[in-house]
Amino acid sequence: MLSSSDTTQNEIKKEQKIIGALAEKVWDAKTQQYHGGQEWKFLDNFVEDFSVTTNGLGTPQFALQAAKDALNFCGHYPPGDQEPAKSDLAKWMAPAKLGLDWENVHSRMLLGNGASELIDLVTRISPKGYWKSGPNRVQYKEYERSAIADKREVIPYNDPRPASLTCLVNPNNPTGTYMHIEELKKYIEETAVDNSVFMVDESMQIWHSNKFQLDSLISQSEWIENLYKTRNISVYIMHSWTKIWSCTGIRLGSVLCPTAELASELKKLQVPWSVNISALRFLEVVCSEQEEEFLNKTWELTPKWRASEIEKLRVLEKSLTGESGNWELSGEDFLSWIWIDFKDEVTAEDAAEKARQAGVPVRPGKNGYKEYTKVRIAVRSPEKVDILINAWKDLKRSN
Ligand SMILES: Cc1ncc(COP(=O)(O)O)c(C=O)c1O
Repeated sequence: MLSSSDTTQNEIKKEQKIIGALAEKVWDAKTQQYHGGQEWKFLDNFVEDFSVTTNGLGTPQFALQAAKDALNFCGHYPPGDQEPAKSDLAKWMAPAKLGLDWENVHSRMLLGNGASELIDLVTRISPKGYWKSGPNRVQYKEYERSAIADKREVIPYNDPRPASLTCLVNPNNPTGTYMHIEELKKYIEETAVDNSVFMVDESMQIWHSNKFQLDSLISQSEWIENLYKTRNISVYIMHSWTKIWSCTGIRLGSVLCPTAELASELKKLQVPWSVNISALRFLEVVCSEQEEEFLNKTWELTPKWRASEIEKLRVLEKSLTGESGNWELSGEDFLSWIWIDFKDEVTAEDAAEKARQAGVPVRPGKNGYKEYTKVRIAVRSPEKVDILINAWKDLKRSN
């Protein structure tokens, strides 16, 4: 019989094998959680990264230039209050024209070195006890990683035991399922126990539309305050800004705490200057009128590119499987990625390998998520998609 340490070793070996030769060099499977976006720099023929959910339009150019220019001041500390970037973000997130109160949002906000820093911070300050995910069996793994690092027991989302910390990703990465605001609030009211913390990740919700706020918890300050006062349920809204503004390398995230007092509590625990001067300048510019056009284009083009990508996948599916195609292509129309279920492990494995060989890496579902028949691909411009589709023209199938 295998001891538990043998089982762990076997799991690690399996995971290492799964990750593949390239990404294996990067992630330490014993201590770290696999994440996409690492293979590109090993590929001599790299063209485009389909393995991450960043904006297909790339990085906004005015903001990028401002981030570069900011390095001229790297001999100085970043501002301790994260200003003016923090106010700019609050105004952008909660504009008066939509009837929102940016000052309230600002008082509850903290910027971080990517959302990852803030996920970890909120996890550590949450009351001890069980951790569970939102209603998706497969969900972005960083929340679970932080919970395990914080020595919490992870229980399934439908476990009747009360979780002191629940984390829900909406829209969910990687499956692309989405709860509209009323459904989301109902879910929280019904599943959160009193005196608990509920983190909701809305990083990918920005793609919803140019009025994304109205279908987001950003517009629900009163409901959040009320839930806190009446049931002591603390709803934290998490945003990674590295996806919509395609700036994963400079690290930028924010959290909205349930109250200004709780934001102060969190601030006490945050390492100072965790957001550097380039990232702060970048944020100022993306929130300004200079980059309005970039966002308008994002909302206009992403669903079009996504629809055309799906069409091409359907044609490919037909050519490979005949009329009996059964691939599942999941996710809301507005999202920056597609979650593909080939219903065949051999095909999924081959898809990841062939994409890598063609310089267009994708995110294998088996790594971390243990979804062996699936891959996640980003929404990208039609020319880039053609390279991926061409690489997949002879995908293997099990018999
Ligand atoms: C849903 C979601 N939330 C948060 C993050 C963390 O992002 P970052 O630390 O780059 O801001 C990611 C990254 O993939 C993500 O997909």
